[in-house]
Amino acid sequence: MIPVLVPPGLEAALDEAWQAAKDVPGFLLENEARFLGMMAACSPREGAIVEIGSFKGKSAVMLGKLAKHYGFGPVVAIDPHNFNNAELAEHRAAPGASSYDEFLENIEAAGVSPYVEVHRAFSTEVAKSWSRPIRMLWIDGDHSYRGAKADFDGFMPHLVPGGFVALHDALHEFSGPIRVFVEDILGSNRFGAAGFVNSIAWSQYRPKDSFSFRHMHLALEPVAAKLLPLVADDKPLHGLRKVQFKLARSRVPRSLPTLKEWTKMLNPE
Ligand SMILES: C[S@@+](CC[C@H](N)C(=O)[O-])C[C@H]1O[C@@H](n2cnc3c(N)ncnc32)[C@H](O)[C@@H]1O
Repeated sequence: MIPVLVPPGLEAALDEAWQAAKDVPGFLLENEARFLGMMAACSPREGAIVEIGSFKGKSAVMLGKLAKHYGFGPVVAIDPHNFNNAELAEHRAAPGASSYDEFLENIEAAGVSPYVEVHRAFSTEVAKSWSRPIRMLWIDGDHSYRGAKADFDGFMPHLVPGGFVALHDALHEFSGPIRVFVEDILGSNRFGAAGFVNSIAWSQYRPKDSFSFRHMHLALEPVAAKLLPLVADDKPLHGLRKVQFKLARSRVPRSLPTLKEWTKMLNPE
């Protein structure tokens, strides 16, 4: 596998992208947004960035800014915009409510509309006819196990070697992202470097030399797997189970690597 290189000027490009994304309503924290930008910028040149779950455009603006800066693209933003997500349950109460107009306004205001290919649809619909290579797969839609697994299985076959897959809310009280990460990524022999940044679980697709990264998976799997039984039923946690969840989560390493640390993770000696 050819070495993964950090492109010139990435720190400044991330600063600029975060300035544009930070005031867009959403759930993405700054270090998560920066990390999305790092993956996007360091993925192979070939292929699309597929975003499942756009809401009002926070991550789409972040990724769109990087696409604009480095001249790659497009960012394919898939969302029915009907608040179909457990995090957004309170908004769903309003009949016909939609995040679509605000999403369009926000990507336009950030100057990234030409870099974002908008699909107002469910991911499973888009997956049915998808045939293009993917350089980065960003899963932030339906966080149930069924939803996250369908997104992973639907788009993963198109991820190019060296591309990245990332799932949001893997360290929150949802069954899907963490289970897919533990079972389908850490439990497979097709992935390379892997980890968490805040609540993002991520990995690089390295089907030919995954053995060089096995130690990383073996270290992460037991700590991450402890969360699975606690979130399996997608019910809000209370009392002792909440304490157990917080304790298990506190053992998961999840800080944002520096660009130097990250380059080292992706390029083992
Ligand atoms: C947590 S929000 C996404 C946040 C967004 N990435 C951001 O940076 O602000 C989840 C979104 O996923 C969308 N969603 C839920 N199920 C989906 C599915 N099957 N396909 C596509 N989008 C879905 C919801 O409509 C919602 O807008």
